[in-house]
Amino acid sequence: MNLPPTGRPVADLLAEVTRLKQHDLPVRGGQVTAYVYDTGRAEVNDAATRAYLEMLEVNCLDPTAFPSVVEMERQVVGAVADLLGGGHGIFTSGGTESIMLAVKAARDLARRPSGAGEAPRSRPNVVLPVTAHPAFHKAAHYLGVEARPVPVDLGTYKVRARDVEEAIDDDTILVVVSAPSYPQGVIDPVEEVAAVAAAAGVPCHVDACVGGWLLPWLREAGAAVPPFDLSVPGVTSISCDLHKFGYAPKGASVLLFADPAARRKAYFASAAWPGYTIINATVQSSRSAGPLGGAWATLQALGRSGYAELGRATLEATLRLRAGLAEIPGLRVLGEPESSLVAFAGDDVDVFVLADEARARGWFLQPQLSYAGIPANLHITVTGVTLAGVEAMLKVIAESAAAARERGPVVLPDGLVELVAGLDLEAIDDATFAELSASVGVDLRPGAGQPEMAMVNAVLDALPAPAREAVLVRFLSVIYGR
Ligand SMILES: Cc1ncc(COP(=O)(O)O)c(C=O)c1O
Repeated sequence: MNLPPTGRPVADLLAEVTRLKQHDLPVRGGQVTAYVYDTGRAEVNDAATRAYLEMLEVNCLDPTAFPSVVEMERQVVGAVADLLGGGHGIFTSGGTESIMLAVKAARDLARRPSGAGEAPRSRPNVVLPVTAHPAFHKAAHYLGVEARPVPVDLGTYKVRARDVEEAIDDDTILVVVSAPSYPQGVIDPVEEVAAVAAAAGVPCHVDACVGGWLLPWLREAGAAVPPFDLSVPGVTSISCDLHKFGYAPKGASVLLFADPAARRKAYFASAAWPGYTIINATVQSSRSAGPLGGAWATLQALGRSGYAELGRATLEATLRLRAGLAEIPGLRVLGEPESSLVAFAGDDVDVFVLADEARARGWFLQPQLSYAGIPANLHITVTGVTLAGVEAMLKVIAESAAAARERGPVVLPDGLVELVAGLDLEAIDDATFAELSASVGVDLRPGAGQPEMAMVNAVLDALPAPAREAVLVRFLSVIYGR
């Protein structure tokens, strides 16, 4: 029974929270190079935490009941619009929700009015680079839209405008570019693709979830950042996550539309029941205003000068990281990232083994599987706090690369990949899957500890994408248990 028979004292609960978190990766300090964004400034975290708590129980569901939500959202969205070329915005819970709403708005804008004399669209599609975030595939899946991926140039990792142009047809409702794309940190040719989309009469969304609140500060610090925001002709919407380089607590993103009519298509209202009226700007209905308060306070606590300084430190750390990686034998940075997201592959080093070696030394580098002609690699998101530890990071990467070279690549047991690829996952239950995993050295059962990830990644890497997805779903189901 997980519910205690009687209530427990606060001190007891907090001690248990600490215990539950003991194996978590650290969220501060820069040794985890993905998932978390740290300014290194305690007073900023403090401001965000306090404002978050202050707004925690306010419900965004009804802006007439809680006008603080409207005022705060106007300020936060206004700050993002000021930086990214204007527009009309929505504060959402994250990149995925911003993207979901951008696709919904595009789909609903494209709906042909009945009786317009045109055939209805057979199946609307979204044209996107293979490097675009899977949130677009998720949105397409949820919204009954086809995701139509376009390859990227395997030297630059950027999509080519002419390939996008070829993929557009009468059923295309949206074209997507990333600024930057997460995997290699490069910026797609926004101006060219937006022009192609505009010529075809199709809206163009810029996914600046990771770059929207980063690239302007990098540019100010001297980086060559091409135009990418709503000021670019043909760009109709843009997403920008504040819980990434805005350094706000999780649950904070802004979606901007050039046209207020497009924003209205993202909204949802319903009077089709006998209860309270529903007016939602987002996917969620009841929603804590905590993240909004946290984002608002972070923006206010850092201000323009705070972000400019973080931008300078981030750029310096990125340049140092790239120069340092170039000196480590066997490693090479993929493409020429214009942002602070850096991915490197190994020529005679198994990067998955390297990642395990780094983790044993206290550093988390994010593995990325090979896909669409792009080799397996490790990803590092350089943030404001990275500069202080960049030499230590490079030392760990060099040592881990040497150790990985000595260990050699992961050797998969004969026939394992074929076995996994051939498994009918629908026919086995979670317990059987867990036993099978344990038998090949990946013990997912409670208390088994962290599995050797190099092996897991090597198996996944050898599988085609649909088989990877099926295994990952099963993995989740097993670790959450009943
Ligand atoms: C370019 C890009 N788009 C979208 C997302 C999705 O953001 P979230 O995890 O906040 O849903 C990410 C996350 O890393 C991203 O890098």
